[in-house]
Amino acid sequence: MSKTIVITGANRGLGLEFCKQYLADGHKVYACCRSPESAGELLKLKQEAEDRLETVPLDVINTAQLTNLKYTLQGQRIDLLINNAGMYGERLSFGEVTEQEWMKVLRVNTVAPLLVVQELVDLMADDGKVLLMTSKMGSIEDNTSGGSYIYRSSKAALNAVGKSLAHDLSGRGISVAICHPGWVQTDMGGPNALITTETSIHGLREVMEQLTVDTSGQFFSYDGSTISW
Ligand SMILES: NC(=O)c1ccc[n+]([C@@H]2O[C@H](COP(=O)([O-])OP(=O)(O)OC[C@H]3O[C@@H](n4cnc5c(N)ncnc54)[C@H](OP(=O)(O)O)[C@@H]3O)[C@@H](O)[C@H]2O)c1
Repeated sequence: MSKTIVITGANRGLGLEFCKQYLADGHKVYACCRSPESAGELLKLKQEAEDRLETVPLDVINTAQLTNLKYTLQGQRIDLLINNAGMYGERLSFGEVTEQEWMKVLRVNTVAPLLVVQELVDLMADDGKVLLMTSKMGSIEDNTSGGSYIYRSSKAALNAVGKSLAHDLSGRGISVAICHPGWVQTDMGGPNALITTETSIHGLREVMEQLTVDTSGQFFSYDGSTISW
């Protein structure tokens, strides 16, 4: 059955691959990105998908655009909401970290995903699902090398957001997965990353397929295994 899927940061990297795979399977996709008019790959996809792909302007830290998103989607029943947009920020070591850079990354990686869910929750299907794209770098147990204060803390805090969301939305039948995509060949992951976007998203789609309210609120890797907090 065709599903309605909303994806943030959909113009490149993992977000774009989600769009490709879900469109290929016949679903309806709302691809949110900062500059739809110059999102070349999405525009190409639109030629084939026609009305199954809508592009929506969304900078996830722009409050007015978040409100507009809700109005754009009014009347839709969202089956899957993918909070994918994220940033690493400047690569600052101990001694170089600035409050300004830290706050910028926290707004995008931690605060915005919750605000997106808050805006759209009333449009979600009774058995709707939310994916929060985190990182293994947000695992405190897995931190054996230090550094990356900004990115690590933004994703660790996102994990905490995801756990609360899972509890708070379970009564509505909505489940939440906190997902690590693997180390993936994207602009963020770089060319030496271990896996392709195709492999990562294929795995994450399966994770979302299997997700239920009973398994909600866990920290999943793209291969379906769970990761320690
Ligand atoms: N690649 C990896 O190995 C890896 C590993 C762990 C976790 N992740 C996570 O996976 C997600 C996607 O990463 P990726 O590898 O695909 O990264 P990417 O290639 O750098 O793409 C990042 C995406 O996020 C969007 N974005 C950034 N700030 C935004 C904002 N304020 N509003 C709206 N969109 C914004 C970008 O839009 P623009 O094009 O407009 O900049 C782009 O579409 C991120 O949350 C990342 O932390 C990636």
